[in-house]
Amino acid sequence: MTPIKTSIVVAISANNAIGKDNQLLWHLPADLKHFKEITTGHPIIMGRKTYDSIGRPLPNRRNIVITRNKDLVIAGVEIVSSIAEAISLCAAQQGATSNEVFIIGGAEIYKHALALTDRIYLTVVHQEYEADAFFPELCEDEWTTIHQEYHEADEKNSVAYTFSTLERK
Ligand SMILES: NC(=O)c1ccc[n+]([C@@H]2O[C@H](COP(=O)([O-])OP(=O)(O)OC[C@H]3O[C@@H](n4cnc5c(N)ncnc54)[C@H](OP(=O)(O)O)[C@@H]3O)[C@@H](O)[C@H]2O)c1
Repeated sequence: MTPIKTSIVVAISANNAIGKDNQLLWHLPADLKHFKEITTGHPIIMGRKTYDSIGRPLPNRRNIVITRNKDLVIAGVEIVSSIAEAISLCAAQQGATSNEVFIIGGAEIYKHALALTDRIYLTVVHQEYEADAFFPELCEDEWTTIHQEYHEADEKNSVAYTFSTLERK
């Protein structure tokens, strides 16, 4: 069996911010579309607070939520108590169509997941924001950029942004 690839998907600002008051900081339809294209058909793993901010399971994906609350039950969602448990659940049940799992946040989960991650789908939003949730500083020596795509702001997306894919060296 092919080993499962663990990937992070994240959108960060110029000051590494990812959220405030359990919400995203920007409305970028292009990034939402990008996120959907990357993750559809694959398992997504998230912290309980990120799940609360989304408010529903995302369709056409296996939704896995990490919590310390042993009593939590959410229809359409698998509940686990650690990132390792989430990844091994996916590795044990990977199908022919998916050998990649996506860690989709938030800050607490990214902090612990980074060391386990093979690839990062990174959106950089080229503006600074006041925030209470941040992505960890990436150590440049550990990552190679294999794809990069800059987009100017436009009528639907009010800030310029760059889509990158980073692979662990
Ligand atoms: N820009 C982006 O790409 C992006 C993506 C995702 C999220 N966000 C933002 O990030 C923010 C949320 O991040 P956050 O750090 O506050 O929350 P989070 O990482 O989404 O969730 C934290 C929760 O996960 C559970 N958890 C964390 N570590 C655990 C562990 N080791 N074992 C078991 N359970 C664990 C706990 O749930 P319990 O409290 O239930 O025990 C904890 O309260 C929001 O502002 C959101 O909008 C941004």
